Amino acid sequence: MLKIVVCVSGGGTNLQAIIDRISDGTIKNTRIVGVISNNKNAYALERAKQNEIPNRCISPKEYATRDEFNEALLQGVKDYRPDLVVLAGFLVNIPAAMIQEYRGRIINIHPSLIPSFCGVGYYGLKVHEAALKKGVKVTGATVHYVDEGIDTGAIIFQKAVNVEPGDTPEILQKRVMEQAEWIILPQAIHKIAMEKE
Ligand code: GRF
Repeated sequence: MLKIVVCVSGGGTNLQAIIDRISDGTIKNTRIVGVISNNKNAYALERAKQNEIPNRCISPKEYATRDEFNEALLQGVKDYRPDLVVLAGFLVNIPAAMIQEYRGRIINIHPSLIPSFCGVGYYGLKVHEAALKKGVKVTGATVHYVDEGIDTGAIIFQKAVNVEPGDTPEILQKRVMEQAEWIILPQAIHKIAMEKE
């Protein structure tokens, strides 16, 4: 059984996709043992509660220094004893100590075809704004392992999505989530779960 902790900051639609794919058997041999958010208002925490998944908020606002937050975040993950850490819209720079502790066992979903539109400052709607500004005709999403860089770890899966005339960043974001993120993140988890067998 692959035990996963899912780290979230926002609406939790990627978390919901993981929950739904485990429920319908698309993802096998996997259990979400915990959900951690840095944002106490994240609807993703509500999704965890609705599905009786252990969950907690570890907010930088509750710690005097970033180092103290980083230590609390790592301990919070370790407390769940996961095999894999899944960053699903988690807007926190992962501490070096956590990357060392879970090297090769942290994955992230990024809403572009890396190496395009990634790195510092490219998150959420900003990614899609940049894609539209550049005028690309195809974008998509990438699931990759997390290393010390920003969006630089080994790529696991990518899925392309067409940009349509008249797209706004919001419309494009929704299409990338529906047609790419919510498909390849569960696929990556299932792949890792099968490799653990
Ligand atoms: C979205 O911008 C998504 O593209 C990125 O994280 C943000 C929130 O996703 N991966 P979610 O609805 O919280 O999963």
